[in-house]
Amino acid sequence: MKIRRFTDADAPAVSELIRTTLRISNAKDYPPEMIEALIERETPEHVKQRASWTHFYVAENETGIIGSGAIGPYWDKQDESSLFTIFVHPDYQGKGVGRAIIETLEQDEFALRAKRIEIPASITGLPFYQKLGYTFKNGHSEMDAERLYRLEKYRIPEDQRILLKQILERRSYRGKYKNIKVPRAHLTAIMEAGLAAPSGCNKQTTSLIAVDDDKLLSELKSVIDPPVASTAPAMICVLTRRIIAYRDRCFAVQDYSAAIENMLLAIHALGYQSCWYEGHITDEDRIGYQMAQILGVPDEYELVCILPIGVAEEEPVKPRKKAFEERAWFNGFKNE
Ligand SMILES: Cc1cc2nc3c(=O)[nH]c(=O)nc-3n(C[C@H](O)[C@H](O)[C@H](O)COP(=O)(O)O)c2cc1C
Repeated sequence: MKIRRFTDADAPAVSELIRTTLRISNAKDYPPEMIEALIERETPEHVKQRASWTHFYVAENETGIIGSGAIGPYWDKQDESSLFTIFVHPDYQGKGVGRAIIETLEQDEFALRAKRIEIPASITGLPFYQKLGYTFKNGHSEMDAERLYRLEKYRIPEDQRILLKQILERRSYRGKYKNIKVPRAHLTAIMEAGLAAPSGCNKQTTSLIAVDDDKLLSELKSVIDPPVASTAPAMICVLTRRIIAYRDRCFAVQDYSAAIENMLLAIHALGYQSCWYEGHITDEDRIGYQMAQILGVPDEYELVCILPIGVAEEEPVKPRKKAFEERAWFNGFKNE
């Protein structure tokens, strides 16, 4: 079975498919006069007309066209789309054809740009669409005047996925770096991202030092024992000041954590790799303190983390993360 775009030459076969499906499958759920009216409407001309303003697909096997489906804008909305004309020949229902059609439609540009996809679903099709993640529009489970359920699925449009992709693809990188300089413009952009992070009571307790001078880098690396990031062409040192936000509350740790995550994401977005090295340099051997001395950092600041920055020579390792359901829930703690 293959799914391809409709051409006008397919109109008679698609019209026939729709009519057969209405007669055999939908007739179980709708009165005969309604089915007859629909059969009359679904002429080859009507199919062609619908295909003229949608992206219309057909599923085909050696016997001919066995399924159809279309996606188009929801009314005049640029960011909402609607599915139409989803029909699978009764002989091929329950064999994955419908699912394959929906998956194709959900990859179409009308779907990718949409934040919401609506389906006017027949009584017959309702359980199928629900299985594919479509739910009642605005929670309303009543049928409309045409005795169709209004279903919908929210999705994240491609242009809004960019940041989410960066977040999901970020990894801690501990491998070798290529001998390629990181331009100042990039280091500045990364530090700006760090400084843009929220801070408790806006106390802005985090400060940053980027190091890209080879001599100074080697001096800093010489105190890191056991060595990490020894091939990184640049690093950002994260400093904190334990300033009280209010009463006895100090949010310095939260502040620099937010700044570090912003920077890790910026580093990744610019095509570099990094790793949050904090445990390594803040242990009893006080490597961070020694680095702060080299950098001339005043006593009231503490160097708590280094972020190496560079182009990776190896593939970052993907750590095992617990399943979503083990750590995140809706409306209450659900971990059994
Ligand atoms: C507070 C903190 C301290 C960390 N310190 C170190 C460290 O000293 N050395 C290291 O290799 N990784 C360190 N990491 C990185 C974690 O090991 C890493 O985030 C974790 O294994 C998950 O992998 P991922 O970042 O690829 O998702 C630290 C991370 C955090 C949040």
